[in-house]
Amino acid sequence: MLDRDSVAAVDSTAQFAEVLDLGTHMRDALWRVESSGAAPVDASGGLIVAGMGGSAIGGRLVAAGLGSRLTRPLAIADGYELPGWAGPQTLVLCSSYSGRTEETLACYDDAVARGAPRMVATTGGELAERARRDGVPVIPIPGGFQPRAAVGYSLVSALEAARLAGAAPSLAGEIEAAAALADELAAEWGPDGPEDSDAKTIARALHGTIPVIGGAELAAAAAYRWKSEINENASVPAFTSVLPEAGHNEIVGWPAARELGRFGVVLLEDPRANPRNRLRTELTGELVEAGAEVVLHASARGVTRLERLVSLVLLGDLVSIYLAVLRGEDPVDIGPLDTLKAALARR
Ligand code: PA5
Repeated sequence: MLDRDSVAAVDSTAQFAEVLDLGTHMRDALWRVESSGAAPVDASGGLIVAGMGGSAIGGRLVAAGLGSRLTRPLAIADGYELPGWAGPQTLVLCSSYSGRTEETLACYDDAVARGAPRMVATTGGELAERARRDGVPVIPIPGGFQPRAAVGYSLVSALEAARLAGAAPSLAGEIEAAAALADELAAEWGPDGPEDSDAKTIARALHGTIPVIGGAELAAAAAYRWKSEINENASVPAFTSVLPEAGHNEIVGWPAARELGRFGVVLLEDPRANPRNRLRTELTGELVEAGAEVVLHASARGVTRLERLVSLVLLGDLVSIYLAVLRGEDPVDIGPLDTLKAALARR
């Protein structure tokens, strides 16, 4: 059974409850952006979201949520420096849950050096201190979560930053609607939902395989979130396959895959994607069957772009925790990630 008791048996920090609260987080985030006092900036160079891992995910999802409503450039800075073209005409959102991530702090300093307007989303740490020193607006993210469980906050912060940069319209109404859908889906896919819900069924099917999550357009962004959540919460390797590009290279390797390992494929689908991408997804699934243990399809729910994106994100987050339960892993344990950060900090 994937019920409340079996989840509680492994989930020592109640991360599952935070995942189920996605809708509440999104509504709260809107208010927190407003309370930060961040003002619009005419950023003709667009928006750069600097962050890593669970704190970069909002930036990775935001273009998918906006689609053609994004009218200025948007880039992710997931390293130690901003792109070469960053400057006074670009708004830089530095997002770090802990406020201590060295790459994000380096990007903050790079933004200072280039005279770029800044905003910060964090719970505190050195990043909040530098922002306060410089009079930079801070979106106060609540503490006590795993950074990746704060996806509602990082997504809404990035959407709002795009608006403030003049790169997108306000999506406040759409955010409220997507939050309401997340509430409904959390009840359907959560531990009190049926044992044959999509989330529980997909987790059971992926158990014992190396998950490969594919998708096109907004589903590609969600696929990256699935992969990262499965890596961190279920502690297994997992990979993303981005369509249509995968049809020009990866597809060739699939017939040999069964000789090399047990792969479980989930193809995420957006019913409103380009019909050629929908057809490609279907045909890809048929071809991949030759080498995968299991090939599953999961379709976005909801009407607006943001609803469809949020539905796929929530489904993946829940699958990752159910997978952790099936594996007997506590989703809070990210040992190798902590080891790497500690080793870097010592040098
Ligand atoms: O989910 C996690 O714990 C990680 O992916 C972190 O988000 C990542 O290491 C960056 O840390 P932070 O979010 O504190 O900037």
